[in-house]
Formats: sequence, structure tokens, C-alpha cells
Amino acid sequence: MATTFNLNTSTSRANPTPKPMKRLTVPGIRTRKVNGVTAEPIVMLTAYTARQAQLLDAHCDMLLVGDSLGQVIYGLPSTVPVTLEMMANHGAAVVRGSYHAAVVVDMPFGSYEGSPAQAFASASMLVKATGAAAVKLEGGAVMAETVAFLTERGIPVMGHVGLTPQAVNVLGGYAARGRSDAEADKIMADARALDAAGAFAIVIEGVIEPIAIATTKAVACPTIGIGASAQCDGQVLVTEDMLGMFERVPRFVKCYENIALTIAGAAATYAEEVRSRAFPGPDQTYQPK
Ligand code: KIV
Repeated sequence: MATTFNLNTSTSRANPTPKPMKRLTVPGIRTRKVNGVTAEPIVMLTAYTARQAQLLDAHCDMLLVGDSLGQVIYGLPSTVPVTLEMMANHGAAVVRGSYHAAVVVDMPFGSYEGSPAQAFASASMLVKATGAAAVKLEGGAVMAETVAFLTERGIPVMGHVGLTPQAVNVLGGYAARGRSDAEADKIMADARALDAAGAFAIVIEGVIEPIAIATTKAVACPTIGIGASAQCDGQVLVTEDMLGMFERVPRFVKCYENIALTIAGAAATYAEEVRSRAFPGPDQTYQPK
């Protein structure tokens, strides 16, 4: 099973190795919104690896093992081909690498839409294999029965409305949602249905700001915006996007760093030193005692 291993302080490359502490809980996140107000916005970032989780953990309330890993890690054309096994392996790595944030794992396309029973089998596999606190699934009113089914059986669910990337083949692309009255009404109705079904939080992705604000006001649970509004109850970004790992990112991404340049620069220096036999030097070689 993916949880067979815990972080081993003697073999971990991280120094200092993070120390176990009390983790934030799903009820703790849910109750950050009181009577429609979230005093301190909820901070969420995606994480796919143990080391990434270690670095993000102290700064985040939640870490999302997003199925965006299909594109970010695996170079797939969309999230559609992502499998349960991929989510389980990356989810377990993120739980191993974190001690503070509540970890949420995405349910991949095809693993939950068939029926509540199918969703329970997939979600229970994910929480057992990873140790994550909750799962996330895409879709609104049509998934409400499933959200209630999972929640009533012990699996907290984060919803996801607006631009739902797993539906790219139906939506026809990744354009912002909520521009027409019909779309705006659907986003509000979807969020309300998920809230009533017991979702502990709802991601609002790629939705025009007035509708994101209205939706946030319309539901009791916290909303987590991405390409939505600073008035949502929290925010999420794909970590690699905000670190500047890619040249093409959605316009709602703010780049806080440019690690692609750093990595390419380091690789160029390494290549030059290998070719000139400057590496390895005396500090990196073993000599007889
Ligand atoms: O898969 C993902 O990373 C997500 C976030 C962008 C919300 O669903």
C-alpha cells in the first residue's frame, strides 16, 4: 500500500526534517466561515511530491493533490487520462511530506461519476492509500447525491464548480464561465446543491468575479477561488504555475518566482562544467585516506 512508508528522519534529505505536529482538520477548515464571514482567508496550494509538500506545508491550510498533475508532472494533454493509482501514489507522498496542512486528493475523471457506490469505492481507496483528510470532485447539482453519500459515510468532500477541467471535452476549452445568465444561474445552483449536500468547501474556478462573489455569499461553506475573486473565502493556485515553471499559464495566475529560468541556468552551468571537466572537483571526489 502507498502508506507503507513514513518519512524517516535518518534518511530524509530535508534538514531539518519537519517534525510531526497536530494537523488542521476538515471541521476546522469548514468552521473558518462563520455566518457567511471568513475572517482569515484559507490558503491552499497544489502539491504532488513529498519535498514540495515539506516546503509548502507551514504556509498552507490545505494542500491539494490536484489531478492537474496529469499536465504538470506527466505532460498529458488534459486531466482526463489521470488514474486513481497516480492520485494514490502522489497523495501518499504529499501526506508523508506534510504535518500541518489538511491534505485533499482529487478524484480523477471516471472514478466517481457512475454512481455514489462507485465514488465511495474510489474515495475510500484514496483515503486509505494516502492518509489524506478529504477528496475533491468536480461537478455541481448532478454530484450532490454523491457528495452526501460520501460525507455521510465518513469521507469529507470538497466540491468544484465553474470551469471544471475534467469536462473539457464538453466545455470545449478553458474559457471563464458565468458570462451568460444561464451559466451564472447554473454556477450558483451547483454551489448551493453541493453546500446543501454537505461539501465542506467548494472550489470556484474560472468564474467572472461578480458571480464568484455572489456564489460565495450564497453558500454556508467556504469557497476557494482560482481565477475567481479575492472575496472568496480562500485561494488556490497550481504551485508550479505560481513558481514560474511554465511559459503558458492561465491569465489568473500570478507568478511569484521564475524557477524555470533558475533550473535552466543551473543545467547550463552543469553541462558546461562537465564538458570542461571542471566538475567533479576536489570537493566532490573521494581520495585515498
Ligand atoms: O487539479 C487541480 O490542481 C485543481 C485546482 C486547480 C483547483 O483542481
